[in-house]
Amino acid sequence: MIEHPASDQDQSLEADARLDAGLTVRQATMKDLAVVVELRLALLREHSENPIYRRLRPDAPARASRLFAAQLRSANEVIFLAESEGVAVGILRCIASAGLPLLFPARYGYISSVYVIPGARRHGVLRALFTTAIGWCRARGLREARLHNAVENETANAVWDALGFRVVEHLRVCHLT
Ligand SMILES: CC(C)(COP(=O)(O)OP(=O)(O)OC[C@H]1O[C@@H](n2cnc3c(N)ncnc32)[C@H](O)[C@@H]1OP(=O)(O)O)[C@@H](O)C(=O)NCCC(=O)NCCS
Repeated sequence: MIEHPASDQDQSLEADARLDAGLTVRQATMKDLAVVVELRLALLREHSENPIYRRLRPDAPARASRLFAAQLRSANEVIFLAESEGVAVGILRCIASAGLPLLFPARYGYISSVYVIPGARRHGVLRALFTTAIGWCRARGLREARLHNAVENETANAVWDALGFRVVEHLRVCHLT
């Protein structure tokens, strides 16, 4: 069973989520700070080849604790944890973000920090997290979701294609000498 914190979950998406027995999704609280730090640093460490994400600071764990504690306190965002038999197996963060002032929509859901532990992959954990996040967005009147993913991450490219996202922009980086 999946526990939805949002009141108006989308039933069709819920039905679409193929969940292993015992998989639950819930909103993280301050009590979960240690596991949130663990999963999100694991995500960064998996991107050790990426030109942006490979530059992990030595004091990243201490910074992560302060930063993620502030995120857990924020009213404009949520961190969801997927758990299997009480053990955290996946994470997803979703932020109610402001759109560009001259354009519609005024606000959209921004998805970030998506990670499933290697042993739990391809069992619908991300689908369950995503379904819950979409319910959270809809409950706030958000009708669009956006995200970034690393261009060389073929799994992420396949996953977001499968979940209905299309590429509309490229992020370019130039190192200045
Ligand atoms: C990307 C990631 C979160 C996917 O999590 P997951 O729980 O394995 O994903 P799901 O099982 O819910 O898969 C959902 C769909 O995505 C697609 N998909 C998932 N993994 C895939 C893979 N390795 N190759 C191709 N398609 C894949 C499939 O369409 C899948 O649906 P299906 O199982 O019905 O075919 C996980 O692989 C991960 O944590 N990777 C490392 C971190 C990362 O890259 N994060 C993304 C940041 S943008």
